[in-house]
Amino acid sequence: MDRKTFKSQVGRILLTESVIASHVVSLAEQIKAAYADSNKVTVLVLLSGAKRFADELFERINDEKFRLRYLTVSSYDGTRSNGKAVISGDTGDVAGQEVLIVDDIYDSGLTISDVLKKVKQGRPHQIRTCVLLEKQTRHRKQVVIDFKAAVVPDCFVVGYGLDYNGKYRELSFIAELNIAGI
Ligand code: IMP
Ligand code: MG
Repeated sequence: MDRKTFKSQVGRILLTESVIASHVVSLAEQIKAAYADSNKVTVLVLLSGAKRFADELFERINDEKFRLRYLTVSSYDGTRSNGKAVISGDTGDVAGQEVLIVDDIYDSGLTISDVLKKVKQGRPHQIRTCVLLEKQTRHRKQVVIDFKAAVVPDCFVVGYGLDYNGKYRELSFIAELNIAGI
């Protein structure tokens, strides 16, 4: 993509690379403390948006008791949620275990609430949730978020794993998508 197209589509930077890095450090500390007495935690990472966040977070935590698994969930088409989360992948056997769900952003809440429903069927002992971002919007489904880095305004954001139709995941910062430019 040429520079002009990029500039017209990627708007205001909301979180710089160094701000994200410091949020990751602080979340890593919170998660380590919260699971200090646990010996095994199943971490369910929701692909594709949370991949980069989870990679950096668990590299930082650096503790093998956290076992990462991946679920692919998609509900977005362009900048609109199509209202139904399609979950593919397997949670594994979570009966009696501690589970931590990791997503990129809590927006309408449909994704996390659908994933929670699926995970609960496996009868875990406890489920907690972690997101990089919470969007300041009316959540259609209210879910409890146990670990969160930052709140962003009610706009479509891209970068650091978050995409717009597959684009901009590779950015190391998080920016507002300029809808007028697309
Ligand atoms: P929810 O189901 O509406 O809470 O949306 C959660 C999912 O939609 C997230 O896992 C993201 O993958 C995607 N999503 C929601 N808002 C944005 C955004 O602003 N940018 C990129 N992806 C988003
Ligand atoms: Mg997602």
